[in-house]
Amino acid sequence: MPPQRRNAPEAAIADVQTVLGLETSCDETAAAVVRRHADGRTQVLSSIVASQIAQHAPYGGVVPEIAARAHVESIDAIAAEALRAAGAGYGDLTGVAATAGPGLVGGVMVGLSFGKAVALARGLPLVAVNHLEGHAVSARLGADLPYPFLLLLVSGGHCQLLDVAGVGACRRLGSTMDDAAGEAFDKIAKSLGLPYPGGPALERLAEGGDPERFVLPRMLLGHKGCDFSFSGLKTAAARLAETVAGEADRRDLAAAVQAAITAQLAERSERAMAVYAREHGGRDLRFVVAGGVAANRTVRARLEAAARAHGFSFAAPPLAYCTDNAAMIALAGAERLALGLSDPLDAPARPRWPLDAAAALANPTHAAGRKGAKA
Ligand code: KG4
Ligand code: ZN
Repeated sequence: MPPQRRNAPEAAIADVQTVLGLETSCDETAAAVVRRHADGRTQVLSSIVASQIAQHAPYGGVVPEIAARAHVESIDAIAAEALRAAGAGYGDLTGVAATAGPGLVGGVMVGLSFGKAVALARGLPLVAVNHLEGHAVSARLGADLPYPFLLLLVSGGHCQLLDVAGVGACRRLGSTMDDAAGEAFDKIAKSLGLPYPGGPALERLAEGGDPERFVLPRMLLGHKGCDFSFSGLKTAAARLAETVAGEADRRDLAAAVQAAITAQLAERSERAMAVYAREHGGRDLRFVVAGGVAANRTVRARLEAAARAHGFSFAAPPLAYCTDNAAMIALAGAERLALGLSDPLDAPARPRWPLDAAAALANPTHAAGRKGAKA
């Protein structure tokens, strides 16, 4: 459902937005209070993230039913804690923003319903936020990062390059044709016997490893376009994982995997930088990486070097705002409210919800994944 302009006249839109954000689309129950000033400055007044890792770890991945129940059990307390930590009450809020998709729909419904209840009870505008838009704005949390910018959004369910002109204005330049980069990290980590979540565990194992010892396919290297593919790498790494035994071998394989994923992210991003620079006439050259995989230090450093080499500035959210959190949802909500945008109380929970719907329709090979449409 498209966002709706509020009935209130433009003048009635608060100069300062103080927004409660709610995030329940995967395995974190999160709530945050973010303040956005009229000049665009942002302040995170609180950000609470309750991870469900311990509940899912025995199963080696997220179990949707367990996730939904855990969100129900804790959303109340987490929202109250976010308000308390912000030194705010419901009466101080100018709006409430909840993730409405894409994601595990049972969980999405918990946060969205809670947000609707708050909006109804307190007479506040509701913003039904696209989780990907949250990641897209996350590098603006507390930092001076103007629009537009080129974004690599790289998480457990998504891997795409976007030209971001603002909320509601993201144009996709490339996307994964199979797995997301975080998914590749997680699956390969699993075949190496590492615990869930695999990405951070694989990064730790790779420390001090020799990335050159094992040869892995460098997918799409040199290919035209800005799309990604990780399935061949995943298969090759899983086969190799069956043959390695000692700790040193495992370390070297983890380092090789991290290097191969990083190389592809950098090469595809460099192609997108060329496209973006041409389309923007060499102006507004800002490159941003966001999403869970942006927490990886090797990935971050390699992308920063690529950006600088192509004349782009580089930005990434602080580590705490790379992985899922509600501050980014609150900020996306605040930016929409500042534009006079909000959503009706019957806004649906959407398991799939591409940021650039036209691009997703035009390219059906970019199939839906574990957390919804990767397109
Ligand atoms: O953004 P996020 O918290 O959730 C999604 O929206 O998917 O991203 C989670 C993903 C997981 O696949 C996780 O393994 C990966 O991000 N990740 C990492 C690191 N930290 C999180 N991957 C590699 N290195 C890390 N340090
Ligand atoms: Zn996410």
